[in-house]
Amino acid sequence: MIYNSFDNVGLVKVLSFLKSHNIEYLSGQDLSDVLKISRVAVWKHIKKIRSLGYKIESKQKLGYRLVKSTNLLLPWEITSDLKTKTIGKRAYYFDSIDSTQNFAIEIASNSKENGTVVISQKQTRGRGRLGRKWLSPTGGIWLSIVLHPKFDIAMSTLFPIGAALALSNTIEKIFGKKVELKWPNDVTINSKKVAGMLIDVSIESNKIEYLVLGVGINFKVNISQLEKSLKSSENFYGVTSLIENGKDESPILFVKSFLVELEKIFELLEKGENKIIINNWTKKSSTIRKDISVSTSDGKINGKVIKLDNDGALIVKENNQFRRIMAGDIIYKH
Ligand code: BTN
Repeated sequence: MIYNSFDNVGLVKVLSFLKSHNIEYLSGQDLSDVLKISRVAVWKHIKKIRSLGYKIESKQKLGYRLVKSTNLLLPWEITSDLKTKTIGKRAYYFDSIDSTQNFAIEIASNSKENGTVVISQKQTRGRGRLGRKWLSPTGGIWLSIVLHPKFDIAMSTLFPIGAALALSNTIEKIFGKKVELKWPNDVTINSKKVAGMLIDVSIESNKIEYLVLGVGINFKVNISQLEKSLKSSENFYGVTSLIENGKDESPILFVKSFLVELEKIFELLEKGENKIIINNWTKKSSTIRKDISVSTSDGKINGKVIKLDNDGALIVKENNQFRRIMAGDIIYKH
């Protein structure tokens, strides 16, 4: 099942009308007259809307009333009233897909798709950093964003780091939880991973043609199940869920706030204001000044983290020598 934000015009019309008149009942005839669609079409849309998790009460002789919205990240829920200029102006939603990242890459060259968000309820072949698998059960937020940036290729490594910062700001704003950032793109709560970022970049004639940012958030997932499957992987340091099981929190407002925060970071990068991103990331980082060990393509590096460089590389002091690390998984020594 796939939905997008630009088709389904009839359904969205009925839904919007129900939303804006949810203190009264609306008869099928009223809806048909106001929206200029047949009564059969009204009925079909109501049936579909209900199947998407919205609760619509119906009373004989009175009509329909929307009593509860959905918790599904449906595309029109994301795009409507979203306070951004580009990001999230267009959206796709899947109930299941191999990887939102793969789908986003397929559509990314099209100029119409600049800012598009691709979301899936679950992924069957979710991709993590460094070619790893990413477990993506129902309950998490799995999304990819297509962008056509104007900034330099060298800055594309700073973008997912900034995206992690944007997500941490959102978590603090919406849920008031204390969040830390682990280099490069991990978001942690109580030293356990709650979210990660991935980036795929296409380059043409030395310029970024498009980039696709993948965001995986353990929003409301079963942690013991996830732990069981992840425990044996060598980069595992603990996972956590943002929302405890059993709590009814909608992810919709959360995702929309994240897109607003992310656009702020994106605009800073486009203006070359990397310093602001680096300073704010550093304030929340659990990595700076830590003794670490990291496996890189040039072998193992052991040392103290000094700072984040202008492009997001990690500067580590090893035996009185400064090393620049572009990619890898760090292990904290204590
Ligand atoms: C990491 O390894 O920490 C990054 C994980 C990124 C996972 C997200 S989920 C949505 C998007 N689709 C994918 O297949 N991967 C990214």
